[in-house]
Amino acid sequence: PGRPAGGAPGTNFSPVAPNTEDAVVVPDGYRQNVVIRWGDPVVEGAPEFDFDNQSAEAQEKQFGYNNDFAALIPLNGNGRNNLLVCNHEYTSEEHMFRGYDEADPTEEQARIAWAAHGLSVVRVERDHNGDLKPVPSKYNRRISLNTEFEVRGPAAGSELLKTSADPTGTKVFGTQNNCAGSLTPWGTVLSGEENFHQYFANAEQVTDPAAQERLARYGLEGGASTRKWERFDKRWDVAQELNETNRFGWIVEIDPNDPNSTPVKHTALGRFKHESASIQIARDGRVVAYSGDDERFDYIYKFVSNGTVKKGVSAHARRHNMALLDEGTLYVAKFEGNSPESEIDGSGKLPSDGHFDGTGEWIKLASGNESFVPGFTAEEVYVFTRLAADEAGATKMDRPEDIQPNPVNGKIYCALTNNSNRGTADHAGVDEANPRVGNKNGQVLEVDDDATGTRFGWNLLLVCGDPNDESTYYGGFDKSAVSPISCPDNVAFDRHGNLWISTDGNALGSNDGLFAVPVEGPERGHVKQFLTVPKGAETCGPVIHDSVVTVCVQHPGEVDGASADEPASHWPDGGNSQPRPSVVAVHPGNGGEIGQS
Ligand code: FEO
Ligand code: CA
Ligand code: CA
Ligand code: CA
Repeated sequence: PGRPAGGAPGTNFSPVAPNTEDAVVVPDGYRQNVVIRWGDPVVEGAPEFDFDNQSAEAQEKQFGYNNDFAALIPLNGNGRNNLLVCNHEYTSEEHMFRGYDEADPTEEQARIAWAAHGLSVVRVERDHNGDLKPVPSKYNRRISLNTEFEVRGPAAGSELLKTSADPTGTKVFGTQNNCAGSLTPWGTVLSGEENFHQYFANAEQVTDPAAQERLARYGLEGGASTRKWERFDKRWDVAQELNETNRFGWIVEIDPNDPNSTPVKHTALGRFKHESASIQIARDGRVVAYSGDDERFDYIYKFVSNGTVKKGVSAHARRHNMALLDEGTLYVAKFEGNSPESEIDGSGKLPSDGHFDGTGEWIKLASGNESFVPGFTAEEVYVFTRLAADEAGATKMDRPEDIQPNPVNGKIYCALTNNSNRGTADHAGVDEANPRVGNKNGQVLEVDDDATGTRFGWNLLLVCGDPNDESTYYGGFDKSAVSPISCPDNVAFDRHGNLWISTDGNALGSNDGLFAVPVEGPERGHVKQFLTVPKGAETCGPVIHDSVVTVCVQHPGEVDGASADEPASHWPDGGNSQPRPSVVAVHPGNGGEIGQS
């Protein structure tokens, strides 16, 4: 009642109903096109994709597997020409190769997988229909597990990063498990190395108790790895190259404007299962980077630079600003609720003040070569950040996924995707920021941060799940009028400041999707579903431009028991085709703005 019939500016579209179709479903009146698929040519000389005759050499020049984050970087003022930068998070060999034998992979299969990781940079243009299409350009580039990275910041050259292949501790080949990311104000891309641990083998053979404890805190345990890469390169064998694991789990930065640039790993932002990092510029010009560690009961971090930003996206400004992430202070978040603990009963029922909310503190971990954590050197804080944050008493969160500042209201939004172990035996109990036992559907956190300070205010904008369920909260909006949302993962904003959320693992039984929700005014909490993705897929990397939305459709057809021999999806090519992770563009066919019809 009292709200405009069409919805807040930017969210005026007919919501897509929950469904289980093997398709991308968009609102009435919108048009969609597949921009680029796994295996499509990226750099000069790349062959066309041939599922049954894939090679590492071809894959190194083609679009990688399992696109996750995406950025669209304008190449000129009219918005029609952009660079699309995409992460390729992980490989699913059973979907990539017919007859794949997990017990006995071939070396070529491993090499194809290495080439399918990393990032792609592709020039894309809008055609006369408004569709987004890849085109050849001097910027087009593939970064893979074979690309050299420069390690920078306070832990560069540390003993903890030296290996037999790199006695300097400053050069790493490749990046992997790049999950979410962000576009920086200076025109580069940040990307988080997330579940890097899964590719390393034989941690169980490490006998030193201190090393064991560190490995275990990062999920490194057991014998052979799932993909058996350790058979083809000893760097994946922890028993032979203990420190190689310490060379992943960082925020990486690439400069898509310079195809010859060496990508960077930033040690000042700490090492954990980085979902992403995103930048806000403080009033005094310092750079603040927010980052989540996507694991049950892990933490939210921020980094504040010492230096101040140079405006613009010139090569000079980019060089200056990339170096800002080398020197500063790393903090971890502690949340305090403002309602009595007795009112946080684990059911999700709102406390008597009507909100899950409170204040919080940023606890200082390290600054340059100075550690603030007893028992840890600064290097140890950067390389074993999780253990330092444990010691500092940070708040254990429900899987912090993407975290991004809203460019319109300046607040920070973080998707806490779910946590099935919250409040169960042997695990941390509920608190006001993580208020549900066995949290299946996740919540969205809104933070009012003093960017360079150490205090913040916070509240839960959404407590996700079935709106008919008492355990959910939709920003105070009438729950009978919202689209159900579950397992928020990535967050993005349109120019109106509406929050867009993509989901991963919808626990309500329908396919994952992309949702828009105003965060201010009478429509706050009015969640509307903009699209759904095919069976088995997760929705990633939403980019909301004025007249086009892009999403990454990751792992279509990845459901239990499915494989290239028995595909569960035929998206996007239809017929009997194999599913292919792809980027999709959606727009009103008439050239109009998103959400304004
Ligand atoms: Fe790769 Fe946290 O999702
Ligand atoms: Ca409260
Ligand atoms: Ca994610
Ligand atoms: Ca996820």
